[in-house]
Amino acid sequence: MTKDKEPIVRSFHFVYIITLMFGTIIQFSDESEFTVNKSNKGLTHVPKGLPPQTKVLDMSQNCISELHLSDISLLSGLKVLRLSHNRLQYLDVSVFKFNQDLEYLDLSHNQLQKMSCHLITSLKHLDLSFNDFDALPICKEFGNLTQLNFLGLSAKTVHQLDLLPIAHLHLSCILLELEHYYIKEHETGSLQILNTETLHLVFHQNNYFSVEANISVNSLGCLQLSNVKLDNTNCHILIKFLSELTRGPNLLNLTLNHVETTWKCLVRVFQFLWPKPIEYLNIYNITLVESIDEEDITYSETSLKALNIEHVINTVFLFSQTIVYTVFSKMNIMKLTISDTPLIHMLCPQATSTFKFLNFSQNVFTDNVFQNCSTLVRLETLILQKNKLKDLFKVGLMTKDMPSLETLDVSWNSLEYDRHDRNCTWVGSIVVLNLSSNILTDSVFRCLPPRVKVLDLHNNRITTIPENVTSLEALQELNVASNSLAHLPGCGTFSSLSVLIIDYNSISNPSAHFFQSCQKIRSINAGNNPFQCTCELREFIQSIGQVSSEVVEGWPDSYKCDYPGSYKGTLLKDFHVSPLSCNTALLIVTIGITGLLLAVAVTVLCIYFDLPWYLRMMCQWTQTRHRARNISLDKLQRTLQFHAFISYSEHDSGWVKNELVPCLEKEGIRICLHERNFVPGKSIVENIINCIEKSYKSIFVLSPNFVQSEWCHYELYFAHHNLFHEGSNNLILILLEPIPQNCIPSKYHKLKALMAQRTYLEWPKEKSKHGLFWANIRAAFNIKLTLNTENNDVKNLKSQEIQYKNPS
Ligand SMILES: *[C@@H]1O[C@H](CO)[C@@H](O)[C@H](O)[C@H]1NC(C)=O
Repeated sequence: MTKDKEPIVRSFHFVYIITLMFGTIIQFSDESEFTVNKSNKGLTHVPKGLPPQTKVLDMSQNCISELHLSDISLLSGLKVLRLSHNRLQYLDVSVFKFNQDLEYLDLSHNQLQKMSCHLITSLKHLDLSFNDFDALPICKEFGNLTQLNFLGLSAKTVHQLDLLPIAHLHLSCILLELEHYYIKEHETGSLQILNTETLHLVFHQNNYFSVEANISVNSLGCLQLSNVKLDNTNCHILIKFLSELTRGPNLLNLTLNHVETTWKCLVRVFQFLWPKPIEYLNIYNITLVESIDEEDITYSETSLKALNIEHVINTVFLFSQTIVYTVFSKMNIMKLTISDTPLIHMLCPQATSTFKFLNFSQNVFTDNVFQNCSTLVRLETLILQKNKLKDLFKVGLMTKDMPSLETLDVSWNSLEYDRHDRNCTWVGSIVVLNLSSNILTDSVFRCLPPRVKVLDLHNNRITTIPENVTSLEALQELNVASNSLAHLPGCGTFSSLSVLIIDYNSISNPSAHFFQSCQKIRSINAGNNPFQCTCELREFIQSIGQVSSEVVEGWPDSYKCDYPGSYKGTLLKDFHVSPLSCNTALLIVTIGITGLLLAVAVTVLCIYFDLPWYLRMMCQWTQTRHRARNISLDKLQRTLQFHAFISYSEHDSGWVKNELVPCLEKEGIRICLHERNFVPGKSIVENIINCIEKSYKSIFVLSPNFVQSEWCHYELYFAHHNLFHEGSNNLILILLEPIPQNCIPSKYHKLKALMAQRTYLEWPKEKSKHGLFWANIRAAFNIKLTLNTENNDVKNLKSQEIQYKNPS
């Protein structure tokens, strides 16, 4: 029984919320900033030092037993005070005399026995329910509360004139808690008149219903009774109690909450209420007791539109189920909800039924429900959520004779479709089909109503949407979230698709063609998929960028990279790769263009700046420097008198004397020229050999003229011979003018060989290149020169002296 307390609390919350909505929230909407929450803090008294601008003060769920003027007198702006679930026993209402704006005062669930009467007239919500008042705490001052919307009261007895002071007030809701109500013999039959739209009466949980007070309410629109315990002997007391209350023409809504009853009494209550003006009857939390026997029931004409029965516990075990089903299936109303009950079946109505809306969610119905049932011709909505349905084929078959059925919800069952041999039969009128939270696979697409517009398949086991599904041309909304789909579907088969929900699947590489294929798409949610952030995804991200941002639900926050590891968690929005690394054609073109530019640059350098010449010169320069380093000093110092001997053709003497010699001598290079240094009296050959031997290097100025000169060739021969003999590279070839290969007479094979090696220095025609040319020549003599000159200077001088002294 304790477990059942919760629903009452819930229904109270409902009332509170209603009153809050209409009574306070709208008027107080700007006060959230001055809210002080001290609830559930173990307080035994009101804390000191509350901010004086406090407008909403919550001190519920504490142990406060007294409330003094000084506690709240400074809070002059206080509008809402919650003190429920405390230990107040007495309240002097004058403590609120400085809180003239107080509109909402909740003192419920205390131990109040007495209360003074000086109420503030600004009150709109006053809750005194669940206290220990003996009689209703209503004094005549209550009549001044003209603003009052909600009044919560509690009492152990109800006296005849108790409610008189408030009879003229127009209230939205009265909560009358009569948990400890007991009958005083002479009071029965007292008539109380009230003016309220909603009356909520709470009786004792464990006591059989016994309230015989006669309460009549003007303009009552909504009546709620909580804790109604009935058996076959007190059933008539409830019916009598209700007959006064249900008299008014305005009563549209009756709610019974937490009812314990026999089946017999329940049927009697139905029968009693059927001709009443009530349109909506709700019964929450029923426990059926004693026995279930067949009851005679004929339903009269009724205003009742909807019967709503939720959460039924049946303590009767042996009974015929058909008895129960018959009572409901015969009902002549439009809407019936029976949910959260142990019902395993429902009978097909025997005659054409008035039902338009049937909600049997959270029962234990099987596939056999409504098979071959042709009386539900007006049924538009059928909800069989959370039952034990297994076969989608049979669900389709069930709808066959329901020509008006538009909405079918069979979510949260164990539906499968594996009858591949038989085609599914559905009624063509179905527009909304909810198949979510079942165990359906890809095959479900072969068993769907042809004209369905809204299809919910989320939380199933679908891996692909087959291409060749019977075309669902009317389909507008498809929800396939929380499946195992690896791809975005195209809209080939769903030509009208405008909403696609496909989040929480296994899509790693959504196709960028989606938006082209699905022209009518208004909304897509593809978030929370394991996106693989690679080049392919770039196109998809780009295509998202092209559609308007309202179309893509959850963008950008639910779209994150899952792979590769380095991008994990990155928003797709922030994922960028260079276009180059993704586009092979672009990559090839770029490489091609770069190569071409390079080739052009090289060609230009070669043609206009003679790059090969520079390269050759540089190369020789480095080689010479390298060689120079390896020559031992001793050898150099031995017999050398000159740094260089120059051999040239007479025709080139102009260049040699004007350019080469001055340039070399400027650097301190001693030169042996045959006109200058030839020893007279010696044969020419002797002189040449002598000159070559005394020189560190031999320079040959090559030109076509040189080739023609026989002498020159001799000189070259000797020098080359000397070169090999000495084992060092002392030959410097300068190509003054190009020599065509065929100009060299074949007997000069040595010259040919040297030319072929291309180890000569070319004399550049361009002035700009002369610097490098000379640098190269100088490099051939190099550093060691300075060392030698000192030693050789003396030597040379001596030998020159000797030469001049001994002109043999
Ligand atoms: C289908 O049913 C589930 C709950 O069972 C609900 O959350 C969902 O909104 C329903 N879908 C549609 C399209 O009504």
